[in-house]
Amino acid sequence: MPSDFRQIYDDFPIKRQFVYLNNASIGALSTKVVGAVTRFLEDVRDHGRLHYPDWCQYADTTIKERVSELIGADKSEIAFVKNTTEGILIVANGLDWRPGDNVVIADIEYPSNVYCWMNLARRGVSIKWVKAREGRILLEDIDALIDPRTRVVSLSAVQFSNGFRLDLERLGALCQSRGVLLNLDAIQWVGALHLDLRRCHVDFLSFGGHKWLLAPIGTGIFYCRKDSMQHIHPHNVGYHSVDKSEDHMDYDLTFRPNAGRFEEALVNFPGVWGLEAAVELHLALGAENEERYILGLYAVAKRGLEAKGYQIVSPQGEGEVSGILSFRHPTLQPERIADRLQAAKINLAIRGGNLRISPSVYNDEAEIRRLLEALP
Ligand SMILES: Cc1ncc(COP(=O)(O)O)c(C=O)c1O
Repeated sequence: MPSDFRQIYDDFPIKRQFVYLNNASIGALSTKVVGAVTRFLEDVRDHGRLHYPDWCQYADTTIKERVSELIGADKSEIAFVKNTTEGILIVANGLDWRPGDNVVIADIEYPSNVYCWMNLARRGVSIKWVKAREGRILLEDIDALIDPRTRVVSLSAVQFSNGFRLDLERLGALCQSRGVLLNLDAIQWVGALHLDLRRCHVDFLSFGGHKWLLAPIGTGIFYCRKDSMQHIHPHNVGYHSVDKSEDHMDYDLTFRPNAGRFEEALVNFPGVWGLEAAVELHLALGAENEERYILGLYAVAKRGLEAKGYQIVSPQGEGEVSGILSFRHPTLQPERIADRLQAAKINLAIRGGNLRISPSVYNDEAEIRRLLEALP
C-alpha cells in the first residue's frame, strides 16, 4: 500500500474532472472502494446466500479490527450503522432518562445532534445550549452549564460550518470529572484527523463513512466504550441484537456482549466492504500523516486567501483547525463565487453564509492553487 500521497492520486478519477474540495459534504470514492463494493455484489450475484456466515464473521472480526485500529478502539466497541445520525440516536433513545434530566449541546451543531434531543422533550428531557463564541465552543462554558441533572454532553468533534476542532482529551477529562457521559459526532474528524480513543475518555462516538473516510454512502460506525455500554439499552432490537443463531424461533432477548447488540439486523454489507477498502487506505497512509498533509493544504489555501483579501472565518487558535476552512469575500455574495468556481470545475460548499473548502488526502497543492487563481 502507498506511503506517499501522490501514489493514490490515480486511484481517484474525480481528479481528472474536477478540483473537488467538498469532502466535508460527500467524499469522492476511489476505484478500490468501488471495486470492493462491486466484488461483494458479484458474490451475491453468483452465490446468493452461500457465503453468508463468512460475511458475518469477516465483518465482525477483520473489518471491525481494522476500523478499531484507525480510531484506537477495540473491535468489541464497534457497531456498523447506516450514518452518523443513527449512532447518535442509539445514545439519545437508549439512555434511561428521568424527567428533569438535561443534555448539553452547542448552538451551532448539525441538526443530527439537535433533533434527537429535542425529540426527548416528551420524556421531560431538556437541552442546555452552549453558546458558541466567535465559532468556538469553550470548555469553561460547557463546565458552567453542567448541573446535577446533566446526563450527557453531546458535541461535534469538528464543527461542520467552520471546522472548529475540540480538544478531545480535555473535554473527555472534564466530562469524566463532572460525572456526565460524552457523546461525539466525529464525521468531520475521522479520515481527516488522527484519533486515538485510548487517549481520551469518550463514551460514545459516531461517524458516517461518506465524507472524509471516503467510503460509500449508507455506511457508518458507532463506537461504544466498553464500560459505558451498560448505560444504553438498545432501542431498536432485532435478530442480530442477540447472538446470531440460525434457530430463529428460539426466542431469547439476551443482547450480544459487545457493541454488535446495536446492529438490529443485517447491515449494509456491500457498503461495509467498500468501507473496509477506504479504511485500508487511511491505515496505509497513516492518520497522523493524513492530518499533517491535509493541514498542509489548508495552510496553503489560507495564505493564498488572505493574500487575495478574503476573510478567514474558521477559528485559528492553537489546536482549533481541522480539514474545514471557511472564508468569505469582503463584498461578493458566496453564491456568485461558488457559481463562478463551478463553471471552472472547482467544487466547494457554502455553509453558514460562507464559502467552505475541505481538501482530502487525494487533493494536492496544484488544486489549491487552481482554486486561488479562479477566485475573484
Ligand atoms: C457534523 C455532522 N454531523 C452529521 C452529519 C450527517 O451525517 P450522516 O448523514 O452520516 O448522519 C453531517 C453532514 O453534513 C455533519 O456535518
